[in-house]
Amino acid sequence: METYQKLLLENKAWAGEKIQDDPNFFKRLEQIQTPDFLWIGCSDSRVSTSRVTGTQPGEIFVHRNIANMVVHTDLNLLSVLEYAVVHLKVKHIIVCGHYGCGGVKAAMTSHNFGIINKWLRNIKDVYRIHEDELNSLANEEQRTNRLVELNVQEQVMNLAKTSIIQKAWKYDHVPHLHGWVYGLNDGIIKPIFEMPAGSPIEPPYAFDDL
Ligand code: CO
Repeated sequence: METYQKLLLENKAWAGEKIQDDPNFFKRLEQIQTPDFLWIGCSDSRVSTSRVTGTQPGEIFVHRNIANMVVHTDLNLLSVLEYAVVHLKVKHIIVCGHYGCGGVKAAMTSHNFGIINKWLRNIKDVYRIHEDELNSLANEEQRTNRLVELNVQEQVMNLAKTSIIQKAWKYDHVPHLHGWVYGLNDGIIKPIFEMPAGSPIEPPYAFDDL
C-alpha cells in the first residue's frame, strides 16, 4: 500500500466513528461554523492544532505558516484575520509557536535559504529588537527557545498593529490576543504573553480614524 492510501483509509474510519457517536455530526457542521478561536500556528507537522488542544471540527479557525508569523504584506494571513474577526467574530486569537522551531533556528544562521530568506528576515528583525537579551544567554538552545517566545510576543503585537484588530477592539471589545508556546518534549502549551481587547498600542501604530 502506498503511504498516501493510509490517509484515505484512516479518514474513512474516522468519519465512520464520528457518525456512530453522533449521527448528525456532519449534518450540523455542514450548516454553519461558529468557532470562538483563530489559531495562528507553525506549519511544523509535530504541532497538530486540534490534537494538542483537544478541539473538534468547527471549534478553531486555523492559519499556519513557517514560524507562526503575522506579516502585514501577507494577503493570506490578512484575509484569514479579516474573515475570522469581521465575519466569524472570534473571541480569541492565539499565536502559538513551539520550542525547537526550525524556522526560528534557520533565521538565527547566516545560511542562504534562497526565497525563504525573505520570510525568515521577519524573524531576524525580532532577533535584532531583542539582541541584548538574546546575546546574554549562555548557549544556542537557550537563545533559540527565548527567540521562539519573543517571536510569539512580537507576532501578537503585530496583530494589534492592524486596523482589523484595532477596529474590532473599538466597536466590539474583542478579540483577546494570546501568545503561547508549545513544548515538543512534553506536549504542554505555555502562555507567554497576552493583549486583552483595548490594550494600549504605541502611538505610531495606533489609528485614530477607524
Ligand atoms: Co516551527
